[in-house]
Amino acid sequence: MYEKDQSFLEEILEQENDLFKLNKQMLRATKIKDFFRSKEELNVWRDWLNKGQLNVGPREFGDFQTPPNLAERVCKVILSHNINPTVVIEPTYGKGNFINTSLKYFRDLKKVYGVEIQRHYEYFFKMSRTMLADNLENELNNDCVIEVYHDDFFKHEFPEELLTENDELLVIGNPPWITVAELSRLSSSNIPEKSNLKGFSGIEAMTGKSNFDISEYILMKLLDLLSKVKKGTLAILCKNSITKNIVHLTSRRNWNITTMKLFNFDAKKEFGVATDASLFFVRVGESGKERIQTCEVYNLDDPDSRIRVFGWVNDRFVSDVESYKESYKIDNKCPLVWRSGVKHDCSKIMELKVQDNNELQNGLKEVVDLEDTLVYSLVKSSDLKKETVNQSRKKVIITQSKVGQDTSYIKEASPKLWKYLNEHREHLDKRKSSIYKNNPDFSIFGIGGYSFAPYKVAISGMYKKSKFSLVSPINGKPVMLDDTCYFLSFNRYLDAVFTMLILNSDLVQKFLSSITFLDTKRPYNKDNLMRIDLLKAAKNISFDEILEAIKDYGLCVPAVSEDDYNDFIERLEKQPLSFFKDELEVANSQLALQI
Ligand SMILES: C[S@@+](CC[C@H](N)C(=O)[O-])C[C@H]1O[C@@H](n2cnc3c(N)ncnc32)[C@H](O)[C@@H]1O
Repeated sequence: MYEKDQSFLEEILEQENDLFKLNKQMLRATKIKDFFRSKEELNVWRDWLNKGQLNVGPREFGDFQTPPNLAERVCKVILSHNINPTVVIEPTYGKGNFINTSLKYFRDLKKVYGVEIQRHYEYFFKMSRTMLADNLENELNNDCVIEVYHDDFFKHEFPEELLTENDELLVIGNPPWITVAELSRLSSSNIPEKSNLKGFSGIEAMTGKSNFDISEYILMKLLDLLSKVKKGTLAILCKNSITKNIVHLTSRRNWNITTMKLFNFDAKKEFGVATDASLFFVRVGESGKERIQTCEVYNLDDPDSRIRVFGWVNDRFVSDVESYKESYKIDNKCPLVWRSGVKHDCSKIMELKVQDNNELQNGLKEVVDLEDTLVYSLVKSSDLKKETVNQSRKKVIITQSKVGQDTSYIKEASPKLWKYLNEHREHLDKRKSSIYKNNPDFSIFGIGGYSFAPYKVAISGMYKKSKFSLVSPINGKPVMLDDTCYFLSFNRYLDAVFTMLILNSDLVQKFLSSITFLDTKRPYNKDNLMRIDLLKAAKNISFDEILEAIKDYGLCVPAVSEDDYNDFIERLEKQPLSFFKDELEVANSQLALQI
């Protein structure tokens, strides 16, 4: 693998055994200070060259090494902002592609400082420098010195002299792509210590989330570091979900950020990872510039065309500042309550496919014969593609009408179902989520009177489109939605029609797009849906526009008048409970259709 340099290194190591003299030669050849730190290290190198195997301990996950071409594109963005760093820090340098590229691009560099936790990368990086030894004149400043440390970023103390206002400091790199939960599963020691985390105000709440990426801690620490220096630049590759959290934190942290940009790139192409990722480019303490809390978004392939700006507008966090400014008037609180669909975590047993011959089949491919009593039509995210939904190929078993209800009543109410559930108990009992522990047998969640409302206006939480659908009863029975969907409940068809049309209106769609982050797993959730002020949105649409939309959608609405619409608005304002009330009563009587 390293044939070309084997002879060069072998020669040096054969001729000389004095660490000081060896390091002097290596500094000249590679710019690396203290290339060999100890006699033991010399032996590791000799072993590597003799046996062809590097033996320096285990490897961790999360390390996608940055391709040199991508590192070059990052350096070009930095140069295009007229930044010429004198000091570069690579906090997790890996094979060191960012270090080598920085040396090629930045003419005023005096020092490059790298930290890396995995020992074998230190060796790989040093080896890569010996490969470049003949070509160091291609690097722009021959006086530059490289210092690299085998250490844990979270424990590493960056020396004071590295962090001075007199230098143009650039922190560049690509921290590990791994969550705290994944690290814990690997029993890794590479988890930031609790004591460290407590230093971050408000972080405790976030650390509870298992999908918390360690890159996020690294970015926070780096921004703290730059704030200490008072000025500098950060150019870090990371997932968009992380940068979103960091931009969100700018309102609570004392970071004097004066420029904040994202340059999206194709993470699948560069790292084989199906996630949205970017170069996060941040400048701290530029003179003559105000502190900001918004981030501009570009494409790394087209770094001059701004796509959007996201971040804080007053005290609201938005995904598109321009669209938000045009629609912020409906940013308030929805007078009706958004709910999520039913959760059972056992689709094999609880969900049944309706066969062509109308027989029901479960996920074990068994034909199932059950009473209709506790079996309901089920609509999933993928069924919410049209404005109106009134058929479904799936059914779901609903064992409770409210969370925690004793399920022993099923024995009497639906004996065949009781037998079926007991026969398949092992599948239900092994559900992992702790919510099922200490709850009645066959429990479900996301269930309440609202689930049994005849009409629902629903949206998929997972899809990118913000389309709302009107879900009507099937065969006279309310339809259930699964836990990937969110919905509002209605007793009356007309209320549901008006609501669906208002939610699909331009103003609401613009507002939703301005507060929604499409690169998150669940772009639409209870939090952002509850922000839609349905009343203000309703007042913004005239009855004529409603009539036109009814026609466009081809909805069947008998004799609707302007008075109906005014009554709808008035009740939204004064009696929001009139849209869906007496939840359990409705559940028990199953339906009170009022078309
Ligand atoms: C995504 S890789 C990128 C490597 C390099 N920065 C690059 O851009 O090619 C992340 C690197 O972080 C290193 N790393 C992980 N945890 C670390 C820690 N706590 N301290 C220092 N380095 C760490 C990994 O070993 C890996 O080399």
